[in-house]
Amino acid sequence: MSAKILDGNALAKAIRAGLARDAAAFQAAAGRPPGLSVILVGEDPASAVYVGHKEKAAREAGFASAVVRLPATASEAEVLDRIAAMAADRAVDGMLVQLPLPKQVDPLAVQRAIPPAKDVDGFHPVNAGMLLLGQKGGFVPCTPLGVMALLDEAEIPLKGAEAVVVGRSTIVGKPVAQLLLDRHATVTIAHSRTRDLAAVCRRADVLVAAAGVPGLVRGAFVKPGAAVIDVGINRITDAAQAEDLLAGQPERLEKFRKNGHALVGDVHFGEAAAAAGWITPVPGGVGPLTVALLLRNTLEGARRTEGLPA
Ligand code: GUN
Repeated sequence: MSAKILDGNALAKAIRAGLARDAAAFQAAAGRPPGLSVILVGEDPASAVYVGHKEKAAREAGFASAVVRLPATASEAEVLDRIAAMAADRAVDGMLVQLPLPKQVDPLAVQRAIPPAKDVDGFHPVNAGMLLLGQKGGFVPCTPLGVMALLDEAEIPLKGAEAVVVGRSTIVGKPVAQLLLDRHATVTIAHSRTRDLAAVCRRADVLVAAAGVPGLVRGAFVKPGAAVIDVGINRITDAAQAEDLLAGQPERLEKFRKNGHALVGDVHFGEAAAAAGWITPVPGGVGPLTVALLLRNTLEGARRTEGLPA
């Protein structure tokens, strides 16, 4: 392996430590901690884990944290009622509804119901629009912020660089493309209908994989020396797929054989690491930063609410 590992756990830990100090200073000035509240609808196991991470990280950084858990059968009206109550609660600076939602609840209706000033996910049309327009003062989605934090920590040059983003979701692909564009990269958004994806990806100095397809990006997609950022978090249970995607990672493969499941990204790590200059692991890459930057957004919202400087 030639690539340097971009260690998301280490960077997230450092960011969270800084936020704990900042949250204490906020509390001293405002007389209350910054508050983050989350609504979780249903029993999606991955969502339950992610929400647990958010709650724990918030508490550890000295934030007030609450999770409202609703059954998978909850109606859209019930979810909107809970959102309205949270929106009116002055102790809540940042709030979010964990995705995905059960099919009877429209995620767009949910996103529009969260006041933009508390929308620390940055999913409200106002915040999405502000990002597109390059206006300051909105919230930028946390996973794209995490991608940028990893690139910046490693001082990977972006100005004039060829960046390829694989995936066009509103949560990751589109906003990360916008952030790279703001930093003067030449940005291509590729997706499931892109012709010759391998050739498009091979142009990239910075390759961001956010398609939600395990192992989509193979070694031959990676330009030698490129920075490869893997946003995918996919649970696999198929033995043949694990033997393929975990090739070159004997300890992880051994663990798969024992447990019958593994988390893998959208990138074939072993193959890509042989060509890349930098690469994120999964788990331990972008994921931990999403949580840390959610807290940063929440503190930013709290300071705005209290009229304290950023
Ligand atoms: N589900 C997966 N990622 C996210 C996220 O960043 N925010 C919310 N609300 N749900 C998610």
